[in-house]
Amino acid sequence: MSYAHRRIGIILLVAVAVVGVAGARLAPARGTSQPLPMSHKRHIAKAMKCRACHQGVEGEARASFPTLADCMDCHKTPQGQEPAEPEVRAFAARGQELAWVQLNRLPGHVYFSHAAHVTLDHMGCEECHRDMSAVNQALGEADVHLEMSECVACHRSEQASLDCLACHK
Ligand code: HEC
Ligand code: HEC
Ligand code: HEC
Ligand code: HEC
Ligand code: HEC
Repeated sequence: MSYAHRRIGIILLVAVAVVGVAGARLAPARGTSQPLPMSHKRHIAKAMKCRACHQGVEGEARASFPTLADCMDCHKTPQGQEPAEPEVRAFAARGQELAWVQLNRLPGHVYFSHAAHVTLDHMGCEECHRDMSAVNQALGEADVHLEMSECVACHRSEQASLDCLACHK
């Protein structure tokens, strides 16, 4: 299957997912206990790249989360006017690391690699995740719902590995 076909498939998949969560979006945000309310939208609007905070995403299996030191590169000094912003320095003053909660998590028997998809296959984040440049609060729930049949369907059409042991280690 061509790249264009694949994109259409993904777009349909995303359309279904968006229709599915549209109702849920109207409800108040589900409580995840992220340590700080950080807006992806505001940071991405300042031209920050995903990889600035998710440093593993191009070269490693895990995208990874930023450390407080990464945040303090900018937040040593006040940034913007939002009431939550001084909290970044409060964490630093207490010497307390930011313990981000991971929402997307495949079962332990599955191996997934960001580098394989993002770098080797040139996939954009939004082919699997939500468009984070529009997300103003913590996600609250997983935004990727890839079942084995969907992983395998794309691997078949892209001539990627169908070996059980590529995905199950
Ligand atoms: C300023 C740092 C920063 C930037 C830039 C950033 N992120 Fe994040 N991202 C975070 C933090 C912190 C979390 C965890 C807390 C949260 O969700 O707010 C997170 C969480 C996520 C999650 C949820 C992961 C999970 O399973 O829990 C996804 C998906 C994500 N980011 C994708 C992106 C994408 C795509 C981009 C670029 C378009 C991006 N991020 C840019 C800091 C950042
Ligand atoms: C490259 C510089 C830079 C880095 C790195 C950075 N920020 Fe920010 N941050 C900003 C700027 C600029 C604003 C003000 C944005 C605005 O008001 O439009 C901001 C605003 C905020 C706010 C106020 C609410 C919001 O999101 O607008 C919080 C909270 C925050 N940042 C947390 C973080 C955390 C946590 C990290 C590390 C994961 C981080 N920032 C990394 C530049 C940065
Ligand atoms: C092929 C689909 C796919 C693409 C493309 C993709 N992701 Fe993911 N992402 C996933 C899956 C599946 C998980 C759950 C992985 C796990 O359980 O190990 C995940 C988890 C994450 C997490 C949380 C856990 C971790 O890996 O540290 C972050 C953050 C994240 N992705 C960011 C990104 C960013 C940023 C991009 C684009 C540069 C991206 N992803 C591209 C499917 C994808
Ligand atoms: C939209 C297409 C697509 C989807 C969806 C997708 N993949 Fe992939 N994946 C690829 C392609 C293409 C490659 C080969 C990249 C390369 O080597 O050029 C790949 C490579 C991989 C590799 C590396 C294989 C190796 O030979 O080492 C693993 C592991 C993997 N994918 C797991 C997964 C899992 C698990 C899922 C579902 C959660 C998934 N993929 C979903 C397209 C996809
Ligand atoms: C491209 C990646 C990929 C390949 C190849 C793959 N699997 Fe999976 N498999 C997954 C993912 C992802 C899940 C977890 C799905 C979920 O949690 O919804 C899974 C789940 C499973 C499960 C748990 C039951 C279930 O359906 O959720 C079994 C058993 C399984 N796989 C067996 C196999 C066997 C046998 C093969 C080889 C014929 C294989 N898988 C090849 C990605 C893959």
